[in-house]
Amino acid sequence: MKKLKIVGGVVVVAVVVAGVMLYQNGNTQTDNVADNVTLAKTPLQNVDAQALARGKYIAIAGDCVACHTLPGGKGAFSGGYKIDTPFGGIYASNITPDEQDGIGNWTEREFFNAVRHGKGKSGENLYPAMPYNAYVKVSDRDMHDLWLYMRSVEPVANKVTATDLPFPYNIRMAMMGWNLLFFKNDAFTADSTQTAQYNRGAYLVEGLEHCAACHTPKNIIGGDTSAYLQGSNLGVWHAPEITSNSYTGIGSWSNEQIVQYLKTGSNHVAVASGPMAEAVTNSTQHLTDDDLQAIATYLKAQKGSNNKAPAALTADSSLMKQGANVYAANCSACHNSNGKGIPGLAASLANNPGIVAPDATSLFTTVLEGGRGAVTVSNPTSGAMPSFAWKLSDQQVAAAVTYIRNSWGNSAPAVSEQQAAKMREKLHLPAQMASQ
Ligand code: HEC
Ligand code: HEC
Ligand code: HEC
Repeated sequence: MKKLKIVGGVVVVAVVVAGVMLYQNGNTQTDNVADNVTLAKTPLQNVDAQALARGKYIAIAGDCVACHTLPGGKGAFSGGYKIDTPFGGIYASNITPDEQDGIGNWTEREFFNAVRHGKGKSGENLYPAMPYNAYVKVSDRDMHDLWLYMRSVEPVANKVTATDLPFPYNIRMAMMGWNLLFFKNDAFTADSTQTAQYNRGAYLVEGLEHCAACHTPKNIIGGDTSAYLQGSNLGVWHAPEITSNSYTGIGSWSNEQIVQYLKTGSNHVAVASGPMAEAVTNSTQHLTDDDLQAIATYLKAQKGSNNKAPAALTADSSLMKQGANVYAANCSACHNSNGKGIPGLAASLANNPGIVAPDATSLFTTVLEGGRGAVTVSNPTSGAMPSFAWKLSDQQVAAAVTYIRNSWGNSAPAVSEQQAAKMREKLHLPAQMASQ
C-alpha cells in the first residue's frame, strides 16, 4: 500500500507539470449568468415558485445534502462532513448563503464554476471528492434552478475545518494534472440513436446522480477507469456492478425491480444498506417514477463486464461444511434454509448478484458489523441485522460467507480467514469473545 501511495505521488507530481501546461477550461455551454449578483443578496420574492421547486429536485437528485451536511451538526448544507479518501480526509464546504462561512458572497458564475468545473471562488482547484466530473453534465437550466434553490436555504454560520492532506495531495495545483487526465470538460450530449427515456437516464446517472462516483472502479490516483459501473471498492463497502451482466450485474432484474430498489430501498432479493441506503434515503426515493424508469432503462443498456459464474464449490468441502453449520445456527432464522430471506425485510442471499460480487467486502462488513436497510417513505421501519463480530471467529465468518456465495444456485470464489481478519481490523471491531 505504501508503495502504491509513493507511485501515486510521483504520478501526481508529474501530471501537475503537464496539467499546468495543457489544462483549459473548454466548456463554454453557459454564458448568460450574472457576474454581479451574489447568492445572499438576491431578493427571493421575485423568484418563480416553480423554478424553486425544480431547483429543490435538482439538489435532491445531486444529493448535495449527503456530503455537505454533518449528521448531528449545525444544519443542512452547512458542511464539515469528512469524506475519507485513500489520500486522507477531505472536508465538505459550507454551501449555505451565509456570507461569512458559506457561499453567500458568491456570484452565480462562481457557483457554476465550482459545481461544474471544480473551481473555488478564487479559481483554485477543488478536490474531486466534490463530484464535479459528473456535475459537468448538468444543463444550464438545471444549474440556474439549483442556484435559485440554494438561495432559499437557511444561512448557517459554521466555519468548516480546512482540509489538510499529506504531500503531494495538499497542493491544489496538483488537481490540474488530475483534471487533465480524468476530467472531461464536456456538456451532456444526447445519443441520437437512443430513445428520449434512455437519454434522460444517461443524463441523471452520468450527471446529477453521479452513480459512477461509487460504482466505477478507480485507478491509484482516484480517477475513473474504463470499467464503467462495473463495481468498485469503497473501503469497508463494495458498490457492485450495476450493468446488464446477469451474473455480477443486474441484468436479471426487470426495470420494475430496479425501480423498486431505488424507490423503496429493497426489491425481490436485495436490501440497500451502507452508502447505498444513504443514496436511496436522501436521493433516489424522491425521484419521479418516470426518472427512475429512465435510470433503469439506461443501466440495462450498459454492456458491463465479462464476469462469468465459475463452478460452485461442492457442498462436501470442509469450508462449505463448516459454513453450513454456522449458517444453520446463526443465519437461517432470518435468511431461511433456502436462502430466500423474508421479502422486504431480510435480504435474499439466493439469486442476489451482490452476494457473488468478485469483491466480498460488503458481505464481511454486514456479517461483522450488522446492518440496517434504507429507511424510506414506503418502508419506514426497514430491516436490521445484528453484528456477529463478538460471536463468530474470523474462520467462522469466512466459512459462512463462502457458504452463502456457493449455495442455492450461487457460485463465487471462496473467501479466507485472513480477509475476515483484515476487515475486522478495518472496522475497528474487537476479536470474537473468548467464551465462544
Ligand atoms: C460526494 C460528496 C459531495 C457531493 C455529493 C457534493 N459535494 Fe460539493 N463539495 C464536496 C467537497 C468534499 C467539497 C470541498 C472540496 C475541496 O475542499 O476542494 C465540495 C465543495 C463544493 C463547493 C465549493 C465551496 C467552497 O467554499 O469552495 C460548492 C459550491 C459545492 N460543493 C456545491 C455542491 C452542490 C450544489 C452539490 C449538489 C449538486 C454538491 N456540492 C454535492 C463534496 C460533495
Ligand atoms: C455513495 C456511494 C454510492 C452511490 C452514489 C450510488 N451507489 Fe449504488 N450502491 C452502493 C453500495 C455500497 C451498494 C451495495 C449495497 C449493499 O450491499 O446493500 C450499492 C448497491 C446498488 C444496487 C444494488 C446492486 C446489487 O447487486 O445488489 C443498485 C441497483 C445500485 N446501487 C444503483 C445505483 C444507482 C443507479 C446509483 C445512482 C443513482 C447509485 N447506485 C449510486 C454505493 C453507491
Ligand atoms: C435477525 C435477522 C438476521 C440474522 C440472524 C442474519 N441476518 Fe443477514 N440480514 C438481515 C437483514 C434484515 C438484512 C438487510 C439489511 C442489511 O443489509 O443490513 C440482512 C442482510 C444480509 C446481507 C446483505 C445482503 C444485501 O443485499 O446487501 C448478507 C450478506 C447477510 N445478511 C448475511 C447473513 C449471514 C451470513 C448471517 C449469519 C451469520 C446473517 N445474515 C444473519 C437479517 C438477519
